[in-house]
Amino acid sequence: MPISLLSFRHLPKVMDIEQRAYPWPWTEGMFVDSLRNGHLCYCIHDHDTLLGYIILFVAAGESHVLNVCVDPDQQGRGLGRRLLEHGLAAAKDLGAEAAFLEVRVSNEAAIRLYERNGFLRVGRRKQYYPAGDTREDALVYRRDLGVVGSGSK
Ligand SMILES: CC(C)(COP(=O)(O)OP(=O)(O)OC[C@H]1O[C@@H](n2cnc3c(N)ncnc32)[C@H](O)[C@@H]1OP(=O)(O)O)[C@@H](O)C(=O)NCCC(=O)NCCS
Repeated sequence: MPISLLSFRHLPKVMDIEQRAYPWPWTEGMFVDSLRNGHLCYCIHDHDTLLGYIILFVAAGESHVLNVCVDPDQQGRGLGRRLLEHGLAAAKDLGAEAAFLEVRVSNEAAIRLYERNGFLRVGRRKQYYPAGDTREDALVYRRDLGVVGSGSK
């Protein structure tokens, strides 16, 4: 399944996946901001069917993974791992030496994805995420990008 640049024309399908995959999804405006601000935005697809996407950015030698998401009907097939590796390789090519991300403490699938792919837990942000009428902690992860392959875009 190829990975290519995400663009504005993908937004209807992205929003469909986003709203089915997350209890607290991004708004369309957040994706528009990422596309306009030159964030690294990639999608994985099967012919014309978009199956998942990743959004990250690079600043001051660090990459920050903002969103990685796979259609719930397609999860568990290695697509999340492929998106992550692709995005991190692109970030490394742009000079990032490390990648950071936050994840909800309850998000077992994502935590497993990150821990199985070289991310180490480096912190915890108390009550970082909204969660209905309460808040939820974030775990902070870091990965050294020295080991990420280059040129896989
Ligand atoms: C997190 C997510 C991107 C993983 O994508 P995926 O394509 O299903 O992941 P992969 O198939 O590449 O699997 C990666 C690892 O995660 C594990 N995993 C996937 N789904 C899982 C689940 N529901 N529970 C536990 N582990 C899970 C896989 O077993 C695999 O680990 P392994 O190598 O030990 O087998 C996907 O579950 C998703 O889109 N979730 C909703 C959005 C989200 O929460 N994104 C992360 C925000 S921080």
